[in-house]
Amino acid sequence: MSTTTNRISEVPFVPPTEDAMEDQADPELAYQKLLERLCDASVSKRYEAYRDIDWDSPEMQVDQDDLRWELAEDHPLGATHWYRSQPDGIRSRIGLNLAVGFCYTGRIFEGILSRGLLRFAASKPHNSLEYRYAYHEVIEEAHHSLMFQEFVNRSGLPVPTMDDDFIMETSRVAEFGSTFPEMLFVYALGGEDPIDYVQREGHRKQTRSHPLNKRISQIHITEEARHVAFARAYLLLNVPKLSDEKRHEMSLAAPTILSNMSKMMMQPPEHIIATYNIPPEVIDEAFTNNPAHRNTVVASLSKLRNLCEKLGLMNDEAREIWRSGGLLPE
Ligand SMILES: [Fe+2]
Ligand SMILES: [Fe+2]
Repeated sequence: MSTTTNRISEVPFVPPTEDAMEDQADPELAYQKLLERLCDASVSKRYEAYRDIDWDSPEMQVDQDDLRWELAEDHPLGATHWYRSQPDGIRSRIGLNLAVGFCYTGRIFEGILSRGLLRFAASKPHNSLEYRYAYHEVIEEAHHSLMFQEFVNRSGLPVPTMDDDFIMETSRVAEFGSTFPEMLFVYALGGEDPIDYVQREGHRKQTRSHPLNKRISQIHITEEARHVAFARAYLLLNVPKLSDEKRHEMSLAAPTILSNMSKMMMQPPEHIIATYNIPPEVIDEAFTNNPAHRNTVVASLSKLRNLCEKLGLMNDEAREIWRSGGLLPE
């Protein structure tokens, strides 16, 4: 293990945030300074999937019967009578399968974002800090994807791969990296904010979670804070410069993207429902008609909602999409 490795118990590293952009006389200069600090942090506080996780240590081994994979009682599905009445080995497998499914979705999302970031970087001139920072982020996402995939492999549980149509469709999102970067970074936050919220909550509670899960979350939370800070700062600087037409397009696209992304990140995929024969009424009770789950989704998007307000992306038409998608507080 590297000497630079953080210990699991270490308080998460606090990176520079886009707050530095607020109340600055020169937003462009503030943005460049933030980029410098993010680049420095990417050098001094970085992780590698096969260096900073001790995959072969006994405590990191993944056992499908380990009850530490069981869903907590305040998890939407974990709280249902159906789940609690399943045998031990099924409860642990459902929890583990959800954790690896979440990681697989994360790696697909990161692949799309990375393709977008490479297109974004390619459009930048020599000496561009945006170019350099985008490459740091791609490198970090690549290590996250290696880490997520290794966890999937070690679980030995079924996680179906995305089909070719999905990959083709998402190429359009990656193209935004050079054609409409503001849209790419809304998409980035749509994935990163809900993942980050779920991982921070899990990390905060971490009563009896598995050490491998803790380690993966801790690494991810630390590095994602930089990605979120960058995307927010980019949007704060650049959305006000867009034409009215493009801002309107963004205002309608944002809640649509967020509604889809939060479902992907916070509800069980179809294959898990099918594998464990989870009855439709249990899914309904846990997710579709569960006010507590709805509140979690709304809370996970609250920072992004405030950002959209600040950027003037909350016109009446957009607010109606937010509202009908269940993304606004009651
Ligand atoms: Fe990531
Ligand atoms: Fe990220």
